[in-house]
Amino acid sequence: MSNPSETELIHMFKGIPFTTRSSLELLKSLDTFDAREDDVLLGSYPKSGTHWLAGVITKLYNTPITLTSPIEYGDVSRLEELNKLSSKRIIPTHLDYNMLPSNFKNKNCKMIYISRNPKDTAVSMYHYYRENPHLPTVDTWTAFFDLFLEGDVVCGSWFDHFLSWEEHKNDKNILFLFYEDMKKDLPKIVKEISVFLDIDISDDDIQDICKKSSFSEMKNDTEKENSDPSHTVCALTSNRKLIFRKGTVGDWKNHFTQKQNLKFEEIFNEKMKLSKMAKSLTYEF
Ligand code: A3P
Repeated sequence: MSNPSETELIHMFKGIPFTTRSSLELLKSLDTFDAREDDVLLGSYPKSGTHWLAGVITKLYNTPITLTSPIEYGDVSRLEELNKLSSKRIIPTHLDYNMLPSNFKNKNCKMIYISRNPKDTAVSMYHYYRENPHLPTVDTWTAFFDLFLEGDVVCGSWFDHFLSWEEHKNDKNILFLFYEDMKKDLPKIVKEISVFLDIDISDDDIQDICKKSSFSEMKNDTEKENSDPSHTVCALTSNRKLIFRKGTVGDWKNHFTQKQNLKFEEIFNEKMKLSKMAKSLTYEF
């Protein structure tokens, strides 16, 4: 069988490329979604550490919760399915802030946005494009690099996504996290998350969660489990085995040429000139 064509895999909604795993009807209906006050939303641009964050959060709760698949994943029947869940819902999403169902905002739901330095995000996404049959074919890193900078990749421009969330950096109901901070001091971030979510937890439990959330533990767990396509954290694949690749900071240095780095910096500086949060991004340790 030949590879599916790009038009079979990707469609546009409000100027942003989505995979056809998110139906247009669902995307158009998102605003009717009935959020609940105790929902917790996990926002991210793809390849920013979403699974890692979701792994930590599910281990933190000592009351029943359901980690749902992303709000934008599937067809319109998904909204009804999510409605039927009786336990507290942890809902991942790659939507930019402006596309979130307005109910999440009106009801002041807690949200956690995780971001990662965009050079490593681009490299991680490149490998994901190469491995993931639900994404178009890219032949070379050079070709992907240009697509990423133009925002011509699934979920659109990294810059626009980050900025749409950053606009809400002072909202009390949103916690902003960085992948690199989790790499540097996971116990500190787990503590921060637990305080934000009002979960009482001992230091010993935090240590235990960190151990179970290490890259190697999570990768091993995934290799042992049978993928259940309805239990996905990412709207782009339900195959968790594609997620755990390297889990490091600074892999961009193994991919970017000097010229690409200069071009990236130039575009980054221009697009992020008003961004305060962009100054906190870490590119190496
Ligand atoms: P790499 O491709 O650079 O290895 P997402 O979950 O948003 O799709 O992000 C995937 C990225 O997070 C991948 O990056 C993956 O390896 C990394 N990751 C997943 N779990 C991790 C963990 N426990 N520790 C560190 N990185 C992790």
